[in-house]
Amino acid sequence: MFDINKIRQDFPILKRTVYNRPLVYFDNAATTQKPQVVIDAISKYYEQDNANIHRGVHYLSQMGTQAYEESRKAVKTFINAEHDYEIIFTRGATESINLVASSFGKKYLKQGDEILLSGMEHHSNIVPWQIICEEKEAKLAVIPITDTGELNLTDIEKRFTDKTKLLAITHVSNALGTINPIKRLIDIAHKYNIPVLIDGAQAVSHLKVDVKELDCDFYCFSGHKVYGPTGIGVLYGKEKLLEEMPPYQGGGEMIRKVTFEKTEYSSLPFKFEAGTPNIADGIALKAALDYVSSIGLFNIALYEAELLHYATNQLLNINGLKIYGTAKEKAAVISFLLENIHPYDAGTILDKLGVAVRTGHHCAQPIMDWYGIPGTIRASFALYNTKEEIDGMIKSLQKVIEMFS
Ligand code: ALA
Repeated sequence: MFDINKIRQDFPILKRTVYNRPLVYFDNAATTQKPQVVIDAISKYYEQDNANIHRGVHYLSQMGTQAYEESRKAVKTFINAEHDYEIIFTRGATESINLVASSFGKKYLKQGDEILLSGMEHHSNIVPWQIICEEKEAKLAVIPITDTGELNLTDIEKRFTDKTKLLAITHVSNALGTINPIKRLIDIAHKYNIPVLIDGAQAVSHLKVDVKELDCDFYCFSGHKVYGPTGIGVLYGKEKLLEEMPPYQGGGEMIRKVTFEKTEYSSLPFKFEAGTPNIADGIALKAALDYVSSIGLFNIALYEAELLHYATNQLLNINGLKIYGTAKEKAAVISFLLENIHPYDAGTILDKLGVAVRTGHHCAQPIMDWYGIPGTIRASFALYNTKEEIDGMIKSLQKVIEMFS
């Protein structure tokens, strides 16, 4: 069912070395590596199929349009949306959230209103809301987190007030790995008729997402974190809300009729897709989603849970090592610190030993402030990582400690 050797063969970059050592890539929460099928899909498009789409009568344009729209259908199926026109292609999760903040905010936010977030959001689910709140004289409200890096849900219902216009919350924390109980939060928000946006950037490569079952109003993710290309992302939105929202950007493609007096906008999804889209990467996203589906998210989740469990136990055996984010429900992300060693120093030495981790605040400064730390060392795993690689990281960490002792 899950043949790790075969999977590793699918990712050409895993054959390379860095500093004459085999690459151990544990920075998957930042971006995942790409299987050959994704690389091939991009090359094929430029080698054989390149043309602009949605506007040409000629053969290549029509083939491109068809492939791009097939990709939209693949996304619809991947997250089980009701309609393919509820899938808007963007540059990534960040642009998806900016789109909603700008468009939904323009339409529905007014002075004194609140956007409810959590204390574990990535900057991309904080700053776009701050920008629109400043314009509208609205403000942010924040669900706090606990020491274990979980949401503090005490009195959660009281956080939804008549001022709350939207709950925008991450599915999985990029810095801590916490999987949030989003279904429960969506149900509570809906009791008060408050729509919910889920930042799924760190979720879609680890968990099966079903937007119909979740009943979320918006769901966002980036292609490059689910083994697809950079520069392509997804905004799922419920038809009714997307219909009511004004366009985010103007330009070609998103119009039905333009005069100097007035413009009629195109229907969904094109109303939100101004200009020539990222055709090659949009098409290659389908290859990535097909690849993930061919292995199966259930199998991936099972395998990654094993890696997470193994790595957590190994790390906890290291004296003076502290893990940040010890939630019961976690994706394969471990943030930690070594006593008296700055995370940047540890990360730099790990790199020289061939182990790629991320160090710093992981674009989630409020979490670091909450723990009172400058940042962490973060190891984040993907379906192609192995226990042997984890052993390698543990040995390298021992070397780091020796060097500083
Ligand atoms: N959001 C990405 C990360 O967590 C870049 O590393």
